[in-house]
Amino acid sequence: MNVKYSYLDQQFSDFEAYLPELRKLVSSGEFTLGPFVEAFEKKFAAYLGVKHAIGTNTGTGALILSLKAVGVRPGSEVITVANTFIASAGAIVAAGARPVFVDCDERYQIDVSKLESAITPNTAALMPVHWAGCSPQMDKILEIANRHGIPVVEDACPAVGASISGRYAGTFGKVNAFSMHPLKPLNVWGDGGIIVTNDDEAAEFLRLYQNHGLLDRNHVEIWGVNERLQPVQAVVGSRVLDTIEDLIQARIRNARLLDEGLKGLEEYIRPPHRPENNREVYQLYLATATRRDELLQYLISREIEAKVHYPIPIHLQNAARDLGYKRGDFPVCERQADEIITLPAHQHITEEQIAHMISIIREFYMVNVPS
Ligand SMILES: Cc1ncc(COP(=O)(O)O)c(C=O)c1O
Repeated sequence: MNVKYSYLDQQFSDFEAYLPELRKLVSSGEFTLGPFVEAFEKKFAAYLGVKHAIGTNTGTGALILSLKAVGVRPGSEVITVANTFIASAGAIVAAGARPVFVDCDERYQIDVSKLESAITPNTAALMPVHWAGCSPQMDKILEIANRHGIPVVEDACPAVGASISGRYAGTFGKVNAFSMHPLKPLNVWGDGGIIVTNDDEAAEFLRLYQNHGLLDRNHVEIWGVNERLQPVQAVVGSRVLDTIEDLIQARIRNARLLDEGLKGLEEYIRPPHRPENNREVYQLYLATATRRDELLQYLISREIEAKVHYPIPIHLQNAARDLGYKRGDFPVCERQADEIITLPAHQHITEEQIAHMISIIREFYMVNVPS
């Protein structure tokens, strides 16, 4: 039984349903910003209960612009977590700043007990990541940020719909970013991103900056870039947003089945602790596994498309050589890079596939126990 990592062909097998709205878009000729993007932005802002949503080309672009909107400038430092997708750190560098990493905890989230000691007079923002669609301890992060007067930019790229005690990821910081990359919970037919904020001034800056700084066709108020959401993606995103709750519930159900099925195997493979008040959206279903590389190969040989996010931490990547970090600086993150595994748990995985995955994992550890 093949258990696929990607579900996009299944998710969009009803693509004809998108055509009426796409036809309207094509006949309107509104191909840059315009009413389709505006309607999507309003709908997303209403979903999160925030004042402003601003569509962008990518989640990475959303992060770069968010950092600029809170005042990150060349020479600043921005604190983020060591175990994340490269785009979190890349966005900080693209905004002209220096990424300062903090180790993660056993939930694969930023270790808030190590956050404060990373703050320096140059810290211009804290950028916690809702890694894998799960949330870090935002209350502690906000408390530290407020005490130091430092703005928070949430990298909520993988976490549309995640929440802590009913409060959505992306509604804690001053300006926050989401991705609509195809493998994110709210996804489109290519790239897309969204920035959200309740701050009118930041929103005004972002709308100008994302559109070349244009006040109107003939007046340029500030230097800017082209970071506009494509109207086609706004149409797709809007339709996916209509179904987001079902989609998240299916992921939660699958993650619970996996958690349940892995019980009894804790000595070999274990999902993280899941605080009750956190709603995870399982962009990735992560677990810590002994003999991870062997397990990965075993699963792949049995047509289960498991993956590793990620085997090399950012601070040990060649790109990060100028930052001056070395092996040993973030021991939890480095250990997890050797132990972590991602199992397919998306909304199109069936109960039968989950049972199959669990039996293969059991077989691996029980039959292939090293003597
Ligand atoms: C944590 C995190 N930050 C940023 C990004 C960047 O988003 P995008 O691929 O839309 O640029 C992603 C996903 O790709 C991500 O997982």
